[in-house]
Amino acid sequence: MQTIRTLSALRAAIADFRSGGSDIALVPTMGALHRGHIALIETARRQGRKVVASIFVNPKQFGPNEDLARYPRREAADARMLTEAGCDILWLPPVEDMYPTGFATNISVSGVSEGLDGAARPGHFDGVATVVAKLFNQVRPDIALFGEKDFQQLAVIRRMVSDLDFGIEIEGVPTQRDDDGLALSSRNVYLDDGQRAAAVALPRALGDAARAILRGDSPADVLAAARDSLTGAGFAVDYIELVDAETLASDAPGSRPRRLLAAARLGGTRLIDNLDVPAIA
Ligand code: PAF
Repeated sequence: MQTIRTLSALRAAIADFRSGGSDIALVPTMGALHRGHIALIETARRQGRKVVASIFVNPKQFGPNEDLARYPRREAADARMLTEAGCDILWLPPVEDMYPTGFATNISVSGVSEGLDGAARPGHFDGVATVVAKLFNQVRPDIALFGEKDFQQLAVIRRMVSDLDFGIEIEGVPTQRDDDGLALSSRNVYLDDGQRAAAVALPRALGDAARAILRGDSPADVLAAARDSLTGAGFAVDYIELVDAETLASDAPGSRPRRLLAAARLGGTRLIDNLDVPAIA
């Protein structure tokens, strides 16, 4: 695996791959890699593509009171995992090249960015869209892969790519989970043992709620019960909502694919998760 820190070297390496006839896949990350990220790399490899993974802890997507300073940074361990997974290029752009003095562009995707995490974390999805657009222009991949755990992020990126004619295929890869069901996240390292044990209530509440909705129970009642069970397990709930899986609009009819999404805090750690609620025929 080549580790690259300048845009000119990145462009040269990618031009080399392209002249050899390869397609390019991009896996954008903020590092602190886990099996979820590796599943993205492996999916791209199975498709026969050269894989570029970027690691950039993007300051623009963190709010003033969020965890930018303490976000886990583990470059050497990440590089080892990527090498083992068969990644071809590790792209490590320096922050001063990503956002040089005078940087003034902001990409804001309305609609899908607005509720859920967009409401709980003002400006977050502008930061995500802006950095992802920049990474797309740097790497110019054929395809980019993102985890479904960040389901709203995936919807925002799909919308941006379609609206701005990026011509890049976007693939969502299913959430990877620990044995007890907790979605893998770089932020899970913040949980102490007691919180880690309690955290399983989040996927359980989503699973119970999805089953009840598919059985025909009233979504409003189901969501209220899920909220109560999370609060009972020690979570402070930011939201738990049932939305249209494509537009993320609330009040989606059962004839449409829907998604249950939740965000909740255990102590200082904010966890998100989501589950598919298939269309009822
Ligand atoms: O999902 C993430 O890790 C980040 O939001 C992303 C897509 C790499 C943009 O910084």
